[in-house]
Amino acid sequence: MSDETRQIDDIREAFGREFERFAHLELNGLDLPAAEGCLSALNELKIKHSGKKSPIAGAMKLIGKVAPEDRAQFGSYVQQAEAFITESLLEAESRITKYILDLKLERDSVDVTIPGRRIVAGRHHPITILRQRIEDIFVSMGYTIEDDREIETDHYNFDALNIPQGHPARESQDTFYTTEGFALRSQTSTVQIRAMERRGVPIRILAPGKVFRRDTPDMTHTPMFHQLEGLCVEKGITMAHLKGTVTEWLKRLFGADTITRFRPSYFPFTEPSAEFDFSCFKCQGTGNVGGDRCRPCKGSGWIELGGCGMVHPNVLRACGVDPEEYTGFAFGFGLERMTAMLYNIDDIRHLFENDMRFLEQFR
Ligand code: DAH
Repeated sequence: MSDETRQIDDIREAFGREFERFAHLELNGLDLPAAEGCLSALNELKIKHSGKKSPIAGAMKLIGKVAPEDRAQFGSYVQQAEAFITESLLEAESRITKYILDLKLERDSVDVTIPGRRIVAGRHHPITILRQRIEDIFVSMGYTIEDDREIETDHYNFDALNIPQGHPARESQDTFYTTEGFALRSQTSTVQIRAMERRGVPIRILAPGKVFRRDTPDMTHTPMFHQLEGLCVEKGITMAHLKGTVTEWLKRLFGADTITRFRPSYFPFTEPSAEFDFSCFKCQGTGNVGGDRCRPCKGSGWIELGGCGMVHPNVLRACGVDPEEYTGFAFGFGLERMTAMLYNIDDIRHLFENDMRFLEQFR
């Protein structure tokens, strides 16, 4: 064997040794980074053995050096070696590339047959549902919804509402005092003052919100509950407007047959003052349902709802409003008891335990 042929064999063998690990490469089971590592190692081999500077490319030059009668045979020997190298590389490259592509397809595939995840829709709390129904009624009567703070000063809690020093409501048994001179509001009536100061008169507002009293929780009491406060101050407002307004929204909420009743009462911030009741929505005021004592009204036919009255002149003055020029009415009531009656809830503490099984029942 000529020197030249031996050189070609050496080149071929040297390639064969380095290519060995790719020739019998078991791809199955390799992960993506490992397979990509293989491909880049193969690439290095390709550059080394098939580029212009590769040993086999250099060997082409030997063809001119062999004797002319051996040239054709030697030429094809070199070509075979070259073809062997290139084909081996190409074959391994396409095998690894396909394996990598399959891995990527598998990784990125989406199984369109998997059932979708159901979106859990939230619900409004029963108190919110009722509050919004009442708000809608008042907005349709020209009222704006007024929001305000839950921590108040003595001035807004008491003084401006004409609640004198020494009034029992000021005692710490009833009110949660935070720091000296501040307390959690015990009624939404504070918003009457805030709203008149902010907006002036004439004014029509409905103020929903949380209020706080030092009550021990039981079936009908919680230390935090919700009230809705109404205020209307305009020129020429009379008790007739108060009665008309209260009757109208109760009819819209409970039906056109609902009737209302006003009983004289006392509140420091109204004069005259009244408590208002409405005919029971369950028994239509008869006090019994199918011969049994009606539950919501306890057989009386009436449901007591809240307090109301003509805004006291001192309250108007505290807000810089002239009581000779303007008059107004106000009313306030709690939402929990009403919610409990409407939804047949026997214990209002359920409303604040955040048990989804309970809350999911309401729409
Ligand atoms: N603030 C009173 C309470 O918590 C309810 C009330 C009575 C509000 C008369 C008023 C009103 O606006 O005029 O018991």
